[in-house]
Amino acid sequence: MDAREMKIKAAAAALEHVEDGMRLGIGTGSTAEEFVRLLAEKVAGGLKVEGVPTSERTARLCLELGVPLKSLDELPQLDLTIDGADEVDGHLRLIKGGGGALLREKIVAAASERMIVIADESKVVDLLGRFPLPIEINTFGQVSTRIAVEKTAERLGLTGEMKLRASDDGFFMTDGGHLILDASFGRIPDAEALAIALNTIPGVVEHGLFINLASLAIIAGPAGARVMNARN
Ligand code: A5P
Repeated sequence: MDAREMKIKAAAAALEHVEDGMRLGIGTGSTAEEFVRLLAEKVAGGLKVEGVPTSERTARLCLELGVPLKSLDELPQLDLTIDGADEVDGHLRLIKGGGGALLREKIVAAASERMIVIADESKVVDLLGRFPLPIEINTFGQVSTRIAVEKTAERLGLTGEMKLRASDDGFFMTDGGHLILDASFGRIPDAEALAIALNTIPGVVEHGLFINLASLAIIAGPAGARVMNARN
């Protein structure tokens, strides 16, 4: 089974949790896109759902494939969000934001009763931090914010390269018009402490640590899909 087939497997298993009439948060990234494709087939077959996309990219795909969309202001409380992740640990703590959509993804997940993560086995880790942590920062005062992030991380014993994410024509800009700092801290022993500390820095808009948001993860491997519940 290749990587795409595994993503489809996870997406198909998540689709079984979608019921008629649901208000759905729809994630961003290549795995979430497989979910959108499968969802669109169900919608074409008569399933009634309303989706809130977590990015402009996902919104475009949904519109193209005929998945009905609403804004989060129109549907401020959602039944279920289905989204990918860059890393998942055994407590269902996540790193997200590899696709740059972490702010909307977190707002949508927090507005949902449940969040199901879909991913392949390569995303499962013992301890978060192999994937660089995306930190969304305001363009205003970005140098000061970066210094504040560095100092905050150091106080928690975390160091490593921090890079502003680039795009083909300069710096990557999020849907909200912010920059992304990718922080290669390595293993993050206390993700909760880092999450709280980053949120106290004024120029940090949001970060990619998703804690206590996922209720279930569907992980696809060569042998099929398995479910991970949070171990406490
Ligand atoms: C988007 O900002 C991310 O949070 C994605 O959910 C994450 O990067 C996973 O993407 P893939 O499914 O493409 O690996």
